[in-house]
Amino acid sequence: MPDGAFQQCINPACRSTYGVEEIHVSCPQCGSLLDIAYDWNKLSPPKSLKDFERRWATKGTDTSGRLDFSGVWRFRELMPFFRTEDDIVSIGEGRTVLQTADLLGRHVGMKPGKLQLQYEGLNPSGSFKDNGMTAAFTHARIVGAKKVACASTGNTSASLAMFASLSEMQGVVFIGSGKISFGKLSQALDFGALTLQIKGDFDACLKRVRQIAVEVPQVGIYLMNSVNPFRLEGQKSIMYRILEARDWNVPDWIIVPGGNLGNCSAFGKAFAELKQLGLIDKIPRLCIVNAAGANTLFELVNQHGLKWNGGNVDEATVGNYYAAMDKAGKRAHTIASAIEIGRPVNLNKALRAIDVMNGVVVQSDDEEIREFRAAVARWGFGCEPASAASVAGLSQLLKNGTISPSDDVVCILTGHELKDPNETVRYHTGIDMKSVQDSAPRTKPTGKLANQPIVVDDSLEAIVRALGSDPSVLKGVTFEEPVSTLPVKEY
Ligand code: F0G
Repeated sequence: MPDGAFQQCINPACRSTYGVEEIHVSCPQCGSLLDIAYDWNKLSPPKSLKDFERRWATKGTDTSGRLDFSGVWRFRELMPFFRTEDDIVSIGEGRTVLQTADLLGRHVGMKPGKLQLQYEGLNPSGSFKDNGMTAAFTHARIVGAKKVACASTGNTSASLAMFASLSEMQGVVFIGSGKISFGKLSQALDFGALTLQIKGDFDACLKRVRQIAVEVPQVGIYLMNSVNPFRLEGQKSIMYRILEARDWNVPDWIIVPGGNLGNCSAFGKAFAELKQLGLIDKIPRLCIVNAAGANTLFELVNQHGLKWNGGNVDEATVGNYYAAMDKAGKRAHTIASAIEIGRPVNLNKALRAIDVMNGVVVQSDDEEIREFRAAVARWGFGCEPASAASVAGLSQLLKNGTISPSDDVVCILTGHELKDPNETVRYHTGIDMKSVQDSAPRTKPTGKLANQPIVVDDSLEAIVRALGSDPSVLKGVTFEEPVSTLPVKEY
């Protein structure tokens, strides 16, 4: 294993370390999140970010050519957790563009040249998730994983399914009932992942898959959600590409939608490391945008004053918040289905990113998200609803004077416009394709590669059975009953 890379607990009272060849989704000592950490003195970080430019002309033939071609791995010295370059699982991810968006900029009130959009929808599976998947699959290959799984609002599952099919691993995806856009569901099915449609929401799915990965090792699941710290290593590269496209000039603001809070956490880590290495002298400010119907971070930060506080996060405040949420039966609900998440697992890392990047958190309601999604498409390449939350957030910060029209602002467009065509069709024609879908005639699929989703109760036993294991493997495992069972519309 590489000397100088290790896993480390983010809790300052613990700080336990583990080898990168180990598999953990939280600290075995204290349960906190883990980071991939580096002892840079034992590694060969670049002396200057410009060093990366020589890779632009490499042909994608030999091993390093393949890696130079990837928009993630061409920055591999900044995520050096792999043993050899042969370990790396890459499908040509991260070749995305930063586009100066003057027409959209004028619409929201920015000066010419000042608003840029980072189109992460141009990744192979159509969302930013490929940046993290390539890193997590690299780790999965290093540890010899065969079965990889995630809970997802859609994009993680599409990305996992694509990487799994190309690297001959069995992909398993857990999706909440009726919560996933057709564009994303069709990808998971098409790439051959075992697709379990759980009668619960995203938060329930994540709880189940995480428990099986950790407590029922006999099922042999390697967890690919963003609690997997290797995912976030790959997602740092979005920031490197933005700097590269700006000739290494750091912008004033990065604005990103927040769901499970993995992406914003990775951004904070990227900038903290670049600063530590002396590769940049300024850190941009961060704005995380929640959907108003899934606004846990917004409320905890702005109404309950939750802070990173040197890693001593006030867990009682978080616990009380979730208890109140459960008591009131409150569930995340927004048309931006990608970020419809009530219990973001990377909460503490997001608080750290806010600390590192002097960040703010705002929320946008569904009407704003709808209008800004349409505006992005009208004056750009388009994006899915959740992505447009970033532009909606910018508009708010311009109105309240936090951002000036002459600031350099980059909005991250996390997913492709074609991920969720229902919303686009509904916006322009008033036709609700989802209700058409409910009354559509059904026939049994007969295609040779047909891969139907399987509806499963929100129960550990039913899920383990669906995964092909005998429920006796659950002996001694305690599990909670679902908070409530959601009705499932079969696809
Ligand atoms: N935008 C899109 C298009 C997403 O799919 C997601 C997350 C986010 C933003 C939020 O990113 O979770 O890192 O804060 N989608 C996950 C999924 C949850 O399962 O595909 P985050």
